[in-house]
Amino acid sequence: MTQRSIIGPSVLSADFTRYGDELLAVMEAGADYIHFDVMDGAFVPNISIGFPILDATMRVATIPIDVHLMIENPDTWAPAFAARGVDQVTFHPEATYHVHRVIMSINDAGAKAGLAINPATPLAAVEEMLPFIDNLLVMTINPGFGGQALIPQMREKVRRARQMIDAINPACRLQVDGGVDRHTIRSLQAAGADSFVAGSAVFNDSGTIAENLQDLRDQLAD
Ligand code: DX5
Ligand code: ZN
Repeated sequence: MTQRSIIGPSVLSADFTRYGDELLAVMEAGADYIHFDVMDGAFVPNISIGFPILDATMRVATIPIDVHLMIENPDTWAPAFAARGVDQVTFHPEATYHVHRVIMSINDAGAKAGLAINPATPLAAVEEMLPFIDNLLVMTINPGFGGQALIPQMREKVRRARQMIDAINPACRLQVDGGVDRHTIRSLQAAGADSFVAGSAVFNDSGTIAENLQDLRDQLAD
């Protein structure tokens, strides 16, 4: 059973010269949460944003902040991000030997914990951890950059992830990230996703943030 669908704009695609205004527009437009992408140039071939921008975001955010760590050594950094007071920290199990320990450390620091898996990582890698997490993020692109096209085969992975979640922990969210736009969001929902990260589909020149977010919502069945 899928929960109510929620959409979280990825601020990676925001215009950072106008970041405060963009954040206000996202909240005004009724976004369900803010997706905050952290990249270290090691786990993924890009470097993005970290604590200073996160702290600024938290000063104005009136909706939950969902941190997506695409970094090595989540053992150290995941609890540090959680301790900042964000709602949820999602990390990659590919980046640590001790996935369960990191989940517990996020919870101990006061945040919900999520696991994100790259396209090549099998669902079996997270199956045993489903009882312990609030969010399973099935990456629908290779992480590192916004604006990439969805890998179509990931729909089938989402479908199997939905079955696994329904059987093991139906309260866990099934999130998709990468290539989510007006053409792909409905089919991902049909496959079983209930939490949608969208970067370039929300922040672009073809519409305002409010128009783009509404357009995504209009595609969803609910
Ligand atoms: C990519 C990030 C995504 C990215 C999505 O590695 O994890 O959150 O911002 O961007 P779009 O929606 O443009 O594919
Ligand atoms: Zn992300």
